[in-house]
Parts: sequence; C-alpha cells; structure tokens
Amino acid sequence: MEADEEKLNRLREAVIKSPDDIVLRERFAGILLGNGLPEEAEQEYKKALARSPGNVRLKLGLAKTYYCRGKNSAALVILENIAQAGEAPAEARLLYAELLLGEGDPESAAREYRKAVEADPSKADPALAGRLGIGPEETAGTGGAADESHIPAEDVPRPSGAGPQPPRISFRDVCGMEKVKEEIRLKILCPFCKPEIYRDYGKSPGGGILLYGPPGCGKTYIARAAAGEALNAHIRFLWIGVDDILDMWTGDGGRDLHMYFDYARRHRPCVLFFDEADVLAADRAGMRDVPGSRIIDQFVMELDGQRYSNEGVLALAATNAPWRLDPAFRRPGRFDRMLFIPPPDKKERTELLRFLLAGKPAEDIDYGGVAKKTEGFSGADLAALADAAVETKLREAMGKRRPVPLTARDLLAAAEKIRPSTVDWFRTARNYAVFSNQDGFYNDVLAYMRTI
Ligand SMILES: Nc1ncnc2c1ncn2[C@@H]1O[C@H](COP(=O)(O)OP(=O)(O)OP(=O)(O)O)[C@@H](O)[C@H]1O
Ligand SMILES: [Mg+2]
Repeated sequence: MEADEEKLNRLREAVIKSPDDIVLRERFAGILLGNGLPEEAEQEYKKALARSPGNVRLKLGLAKTYYCRGKNSAALVILENIAQAGEAPAEARLLYAELLLGEGDPESAAREYRKAVEADPSKADPALAGRLGIGPEETAGTGGAADESHIPAEDVPRPSGAGPQPPRISFRDVCGMEKVKEEIRLKILCPFCKPEIYRDYGKSPGGGILLYGPPGCGKTYIARAAAGEALNAHIRFLWIGVDDILDMWTGDGGRDLHMYFDYARRHRPCVLFFDEADVLAADRAGMRDVPGSRIIDQFVMELDGQRYSNEGVLALAATNAPWRLDPAFRRPGRFDRMLFIPPPDKKERTELLRFLLAGKPAEDIDYGGVAKKTEGFSGADLAALADAAVETKLREAMGKRRPVPLTARDLLAAAEKIRPSTVDWFRTARNYAVFSNQDGFYNDVLAYMRTI
C-alpha cells in the first residue's frame, strides 16, 4: 500500500514537471482509477483531453471514471460518441454494453458486446455475456496481456450508491406526492408509451417540463423515481448534473450539452433531466461575455429544436429558484409546462415519518400528532428530525446498554430544534408572486399559499 502511495506521488510529481506528456498523464490517470481515486483520475483525464481532444483512449478513461462515480449518463454519452465515430476499442464497447444493459436496452447491449469480442476475442466476458443471453460458444476468449495503466471495464469499481446516481427507485419509494406522480405519468410517461392517443388530441410527446418548489421537498427524489419508472417502460432517462455540463470533458459546455441532446434524439423516446437548472438556465441579464451565457444560448437553441426535431425528447428540469431562470426558457416549446412541488401535507408528513423510522426501536407513535406539529417541514427537514431523534436515543441506549424505544416526545423535542426550511422560500416566492407574476408563472404558488 505504502509502495503504491509512493509510486503515485512520484507520478504526480512527474506529471507536474511534464504537463504536456499525454502518455504519462494517461498512465497516471489509469493508475489513480485502479487505486480507487476516480475523482483525481477524472481531473487528469480532463486535463489530458484538453491537450488532446480527439484521443479515444482518454475519452474511454474518462467514461470509466464517470461510470465508477455513478455518473452513468455522462459515461453513456461519451461511449456513444466513441462508438458513433466507429473507432471504439473492444474495451469501450464492453463498458458501453454494460451501461446499455443497465439502461434496459439488452439488444443494443448484445450488439456492442458482439462487436467487442469480434474486434478482440481476448476481451470475452462470460459473466456479461450470460447476462446478455449470449451463449458460451460466442464467449470463448484467448486471454491477453494487460497494460498497467489500462483498467479493463470489469475491473472498474462499481458505483457505491453514494454517487450522484444512487440505486434505482420507483414511485413506490416516494411517500405521498400522488398528484405529482399522476402528472408525471400523464405528461411524461404516457405520451411516450401511447403516442398515438396523444397525437389524436393534437399533442406530440416531448417538450419541456419544469419542476419547481421549496428546497428539500422531493424534486430530485421524484425525478429519480420517474427515471426508474421510465426505464421500466423502456424510455431512456439521462441524468444531467450541472457540473456535467459546465465541466464534462471538453471544457466546452455548449458542445457537451449538444452531445446530450444529440444522444436523446438518436434514442427517442428519451427524457433529459437537468437538476438545479437555474444554473444552466440562469437569467442572462448582466451576464454578457461570460462563458455561462454561451451555454444558456445553446440550451435555448437545443430546446427549440429548429435544426433537429425534438419529437420524443422530453427535457425535464428542477429548480428551487425559479426566479433565477431566464424568461426565455419559459416560452412555448421550451419549459412551458410547470409542475409545482409543494411541501408535504399533514398526511404525507405522517407517511414520511413512518417510512423514515420504519424498523427502528419505537413505541406505538402517534405519527399524525407529530405531523400536526411539523407544518412547513420539508421531506429533508423530516429526515433531519428523524436522524436527530434517533441519535439522541442511541446515545441513551449506549449509556443504559440496552435499546430504548423512540417516543413521540423524542420526535417533538427534535422538531423544536429545527426551523422549517420552506418558510424563507415562501417569503421570497410571495414577493415574486406579488410583484412579478405578469405571465401567471406563480399562480400555483399563490393558490397553494391561500390554502396554508
Ligand atoms: N415524498 C418523499 N418520499 C420519500 N422521501 C422524500 C420525499 N420527499 C423528500 N424526501 C427525502 O428528502 C430528501 C430531499 O429531497 P430532494 O433532494 O428531492 O429535495 P429537492 O426538492 O430536490 O431539494 P433542492 O431544491 O434543495 O434540490 C430526499 O433525498 C428524500 O430522502
Ligand atoms: Mg434537488
């Protein structure tokens, strides 16, 4: 281990001394990845790519770091780019096959797998082949020498679940939010599953939907569940974090963004999900000549789909600061459908508390009673409340050396210490709703505020 650390430090120094030595940097990045340091590997691959943008091995290396960090969508887009150019090494196709299988597209996965083994029989992977339904006669490998800096796809550590793409969930894992689920079914899933019915009513699947609302109330969470539902329905779902666009690989956010849309258009039906979209779609006023404003222009252009049709491509975005969005994004054809994600109501809070504390040592708690006292709490606030109560109890149990069941009183005591985080949001939203609601943008917020 010590020797590895020493070797890494020596390489680190060598790379600093010879910043333009691409081969050295690639080797260093590969070793970082093999040593479980994907973040640093990612930075090294990006630096190398900035110096050698067309280098396929570097692209593959970067795709592996994304895969390893659970950023499957970014990995998928890069691998597709390599495969499209017809220059994919067998290793790239294998990883691509793995990801396609995860995306619920076993046919394309099997195609890529076959191409990989055809190009290099030593790369045959019986386990992957088995999962793809490919028989052993096709998977007989000859074995081959491994290059130290080149980590085979099967050796890239699997995402741990802590990354931006945690394990798959579906609507069943989301407490309450029935209205939102219904809207997502109607507006996102059904148009893709039953496009003919949609067309009968003069609507075409695709377009843009914006989820907005106070922080911690489940926008990202429900989008994750929607992704799970989409995959079950064979609709692709690409998850695009802001840092993926601002710094995905080429240092040219506009081009990266185009790659995502391009991918989606080639794989309709496809949902592109932009989390924290207020950064990507920020108001350009006062932002002239900043690189960010170019990305925003590109985003508008991609959404408009003037050069390429966007039929079957749905752009879904989430923000807790809708007032930061450039108004251009709300024009027809762009994010013209809005979905307000309110804080959980009393029934939903009851359900969420029960869900959060399921399986913990507890008395028969009146969750409804606790829900009543947690008006304005977001899902994240309730999770913090449950955590705090559990921690207090755990400390007590450690002292007494036996489990001490949680009580409603513990939960209420924890609630006392938490300030509901939606209060400030509604204060700000009210200002916008009262003073700049020309196009009715905040009508749902106003309607909601009348009910509380
Ligand atoms: N309806 C729900 N069911 C189960 N868990 C929920 C629900 N709503 C929120 N949570 C929990 O609260 C956490 C915070 O929610 P999430 O990250 O989706 O909020 P958000 O609306 O995206 O916030 P932000 O605007 O800050 O990004 C989730 O990770 C999840 O654990
Ligand atoms: Mg979020």
